[in-house]
Amino acid sequence: MSRSPMVVRTVPALRRAVDGLRARKATTALVPTMGALHDGHVSLVRLAKRRAQKVIVSIFVNPTQFAPTEDFGSYPRTWKADLAKLAAEKVDLIWNPDVKAMYPDGFATRIVPEGPATAGLEDRFRPHFFGGVATVVGKLFTQVRPDFAIFGEKDFQQLRVVTQMARDLDLSVKVIGSKTVRERDGLAMSSRNVYLSPDERQTAPVLYRAMKECAKRLKAGDDVEAAMAGGRELIAAAGFVIDYLEARHAETLAPIASVRDGPVRILVAARLGKTRLIDNLGV
Ligand code: PAF
Repeated sequence: MSRSPMVVRTVPALRRAVDGLRARKATTALVPTMGALHDGHVSLVRLAKRRAQKVIVSIFVNPTQFAPTEDFGSYPRTWKADLAKLAAEKVDLIWNPDVKAMYPDGFATRIVPEGPATAGLEDRFRPHFFGGVATVVGKLFTQVRPDFAIFGEKDFQQLRVVTQMARDLDLSVKVIGSKTVRERDGLAMSSRNVYLSPDERQTAPVLYRAMKECAKRLKAGDDVEAAMAGGRELIAAAGFVIDYLEARHAETLAPIASVRDGPVRILVAARLGKTRLIDNLGV
């Protein structure tokens, strides 16, 4: 049996715990999560452990990044299973505030990110999203004061947004992206995959296959728009409703006219039934 990590739920308790961990100059890494942990999160924790001596995982389903029409209420919450996974990984500390601890009465300050947050990808379909993410991640960074913070590449635009925010606000944290973990059939691991029906689950890997096909065509010198149109056809034929499938500059997320404008990242978001999936692939 692994020993349970320490769990703190208030900011003063977090400060004391972090001060304790940082004693004797130990380095710390933060893995921000909304819980419902899967092997993708475990890989973030393992990368954190390789980078720093002490690892802190935050579990907080952040209401400010959900629109009223979205799944805040039904977002999977699996505390016991999460705790067991983090204990098995020998995480040092879990920061698990409730909404009042994160946003006390009278809370009135928000971070409004621009640049990669207004690239016309996720922001076009979830206009509230990056403001909520930047605000809570900004708070997590100042609360935990980590040397490193690990984010999955699966939320590629989010990774770019928090990297830019840390740079713009002169935060001393180094933001590190971690490779997407996939199921055997290529579907990117996500806490929202539990929403898929068995039939939808069979179909879902089409997103990855379509991106691979696009990447192959781009590498072979195909026209960017023609390659993307081909990918969109594959995805739509499988029954998805596409929000976007685009090839963008991997750093700035600006549109590209040719692979020579790269490094290139293909990014996709599409809905299958009630489930919205996102994914991306480097070219
Ligand atoms: O990627 C997530 O799980 C969330 O957006 C994050 C970074 C924990 C902020 O709530």
